[in-house]
Amino acid sequence: MSDAKPGKTVNASRVTLSQLMQPEHANTHGNVHGGWIMKLIDEAGALACMRHAQQRVVTVAVDTITFRHPIRIGDLVIITAEVSFVGRTSMEVEVRVEAENPITGECSETNAAYLVYVALDHNGRPIPVPPLIPETDAERQRMESGRARQGNRLARER
Ligand SMILES: CC(C)(COP(=O)(O)OP(=O)(O)OC[C@H]1O[C@@H](n2cnc3c(N)ncnc32)[C@H](O)[C@@H]1OP(=O)(O)O)[C@@H](O)C(=O)NCCC(=O)NCCS
Repeated sequence: MSDAKPGKTVNASRVTLSQLMQPEHANTHGNVHGGWIMKLIDEAGALACMRHAQQRVVTVAVDTITFRHPIRIGDLVIITAEVSFVGRTSMEVEVRVEAENPITGECSETNAAYLVYVALDHNGRPIPVPPLIPETDAERQRMESGRARQGNRLARER
């Protein structure tokens, strides 16, 4: 009997986390500390992968994270993560970060990042994950770019 897992859609992995930025999230300039946002990015990415693989996962790689706009205390940070490409045991996630001023409704996309996670079995060894089923042209295109991005990551490791 085949142990191949049935494929799952990108949509099935999508996770949105929302958090109000409070004074304890501030840096010394009074804006939000980048480290808080990086932690939320990693949490959202891991959750999307757990949804896809239905296994525990660990972060293996984080691509460049660029902060395009400062996030203010009092902003609602909205983080959306979805699986963009899968290998055998690894999953690439695209994470987008938006900041919304809940008073004015002004909203800006402040970050986007790709991260890679590996699914682990009960002994902490990498375990195969379900194939990813892209449903739109954009998802198909991103999956192909994800294959190339993963190839580049592994080439840099050599
Ligand atoms: C993730 C980990 C289990 C991988 O172990 P490993 O012995 O390298 O296992 P493998 O060589 O089989 O690699 C597993 C997958 O990771 C991928 N991988 C390995 N290094 C990678 C890298 N630098 N970038 C992207 N993917 C990588 C491999 O391509 C493979 O994917 P595939 O099965 O889809 O082809 C191991 O490196 C680990 O435990 N790292 C620490 C994870 C951690 O603690 N993260 C939190 C940091 S605070």
